[in-house]
Amino acid sequence: MSSQLLKRFKSRRMTLPPESDCTRDTPASPDATIKRCSYIKPMFDFWQSLLAALERIAMLPSLIHSVFPSLSSRKRMRDAVRTYDRTMDDLLREIQRLFEAPLKPAKLLQMSGKLQEQFAPKLQASDICMLPSYNDKLPTGLEQGTYLALDVGGSTFRVAVVELSGKHPGAKSMRIVNMKSYTIDSSVRNLQGNAFFDWMAERIEAAIADPQVKKINGTQSLGMGLAWSFPVEQTSIRSGNLLAMGKGFLATEGTLGQDLSELIMAPCRKRNLPVRMDSIVNDASATLLSRAYEDPATRFAVILGTGFNVAVHLPTSALATSKYRGYPQKWLDEASHVLVNTELSMFGKNVFPTTRWDDALNENHVRPDFQPFEHMISGRYLGEIVRLIIVEAVQTAGLFSGELPEKLSEPYSLDTETLAAIEMDESKNSTEAIAVFQSRHPLSKPPTLHDIGFLCQVCKLVSRRAAAFLAAGIHSLWSLRITSEGLTPQTAERMAIGCNGSVIEKYPSFRELCQSHLNELTTASGAEPHAISLEIAVESAIFGAAVAVCCLEK
Ligand code: GLC
Repeated sequence: MSSQLLKRFKSRRMTLPPESDCTRDTPASPDATIKRCSYIKPMFDFWQSLLAALERIAMLPSLIHSVFPSLSSRKRMRDAVRTYDRTMDDLLREIQRLFEAPLKPAKLLQMSGKLQEQFAPKLQASDICMLPSYNDKLPTGLEQGTYLALDVGGSTFRVAVVELSGKHPGAKSMRIVNMKSYTIDSSVRNLQGNAFFDWMAERIEAAIADPQVKKINGTQSLGMGLAWSFPVEQTSIRSGNLLAMGKGFLATEGTLGQDLSELIMAPCRKRNLPVRMDSIVNDASATLLSRAYEDPATRFAVILGTGFNVAVHLPTSALATSKYRGYPQKWLDEASHVLVNTELSMFGKNVFPTTRWDDALNENHVRPDFQPFEHMISGRYLGEIVRLIIVEAVQTAGLFSGELPEKLSEPYSLDTETLAAIEMDESKNSTEAIAVFQSRHPLSKPPTLHDIGFLCQVCKLVSRRAAAFLAAGIHSLWSLRITSEGLTPQTAERMAIGCNGSVIEKYPSFRELCQSHLNELTTASGAEPHAISLEIAVESAIFGAAVAVCCLEK
């Protein structure tokens, strides 16, 4: 069979007009297109089997390859006749319904109510969430000093010299004098137990060898403040028991429950490093301290980057006395409030309606249901939710003409930063978005406008749901604080929330969207407009680790 003939076969490729809605599972609609579809499928099957038979019997595969050198013959053949269960527009309508339905204020308030129900038992007893710290007071912003700050995040370890100079009109009150940043990639995350803390000590040694660091304290031992982006059960202001870490870290292998301060100080001592651990705080608590150092109205802090968490400043009475087991009597007598690491990521199961893609992500997660809230809103997962939708759309609705980019078959291979880049491109022909996607997830043919349009809508639906769910989470903790302070929405004063993390800081219009949902929810609860303001807290974990040490010296 001459190549001409094949070409004619190909040209007869009968793709369905995109707008037609002939999916088998949609109820029969009166208009002709649906009626016309009923016999197309058997015809396609006939063409498909005929061509496959030809290929098998008569036509030497190599011949086909010579006719269509660029694409693998099987694929082009498949494409030529492939049919899909549904159209991309039909799938998009379903995704829109599933992701937008829960975003009505009444639904979000319901979710906030259910979250508050989930808080109650954990405020009584839990050793993994609603964790009190030893930080009872918030900084005044007048504290001064220079400190060594450590920040262990999901993907970087940073060691910095931080100068706090208090409030001076027009001058920065916090400054990073010197900072070393070390990448935490999968090889570091896979370091088990003490090997990880040895790795940390080696980098602390390298960082304090810097002359600028030496200048701080000369030969005296350097007080360190640690911001730890994982749960820790505090046993004093400078120590705490290591708890499960999440984010793919294996540092708890053989060290779970041991004292974090000692795990870091032991390898430091082995290297004779002139350092001592003065304070340990969770990264969300560090963000609250650093924001409160600049804005006295700060009572909460939100971390939304790779991970998700919220720290809150609550009356000590909001937690059961058993949660303060081992606290010195002096602290219990004097403290009226306490900085609480809520680990809000661990709440939300059966509160937030999930889709089949959320369920698939959770079922395939190394720790299903460990951090359900985080799975729906943080940077580690937004990309994965969209990737799972893309896989389905390629298979069932002909996205990218049925071709799944190689670099998207792996879990967690779609970066949330790519979603942001696609959403940011508002040009008519989406040239930037197409270029970004094609460069990171190359296809044999660049995405069509229809493809990238579909993708952009999906990114928006997933990120907007995340912004709304975050607002419901913040509203639930705001309600908890108001109640525990004996206030009402009407009498509660304006509250600021320090925000840090790649998603809330950089994802296009994410913070604005969350703020507008928050305004709606707090107003619906009877509060004055703008009862809560979300404020970016840059470098907050590093600054907060230093403020935590500084507050000790008062
Ligand atoms: C994870 C950790 C939490 C941390 C958050 C943000 O959810 O469990 O401790 O605050 O990520 O980094």
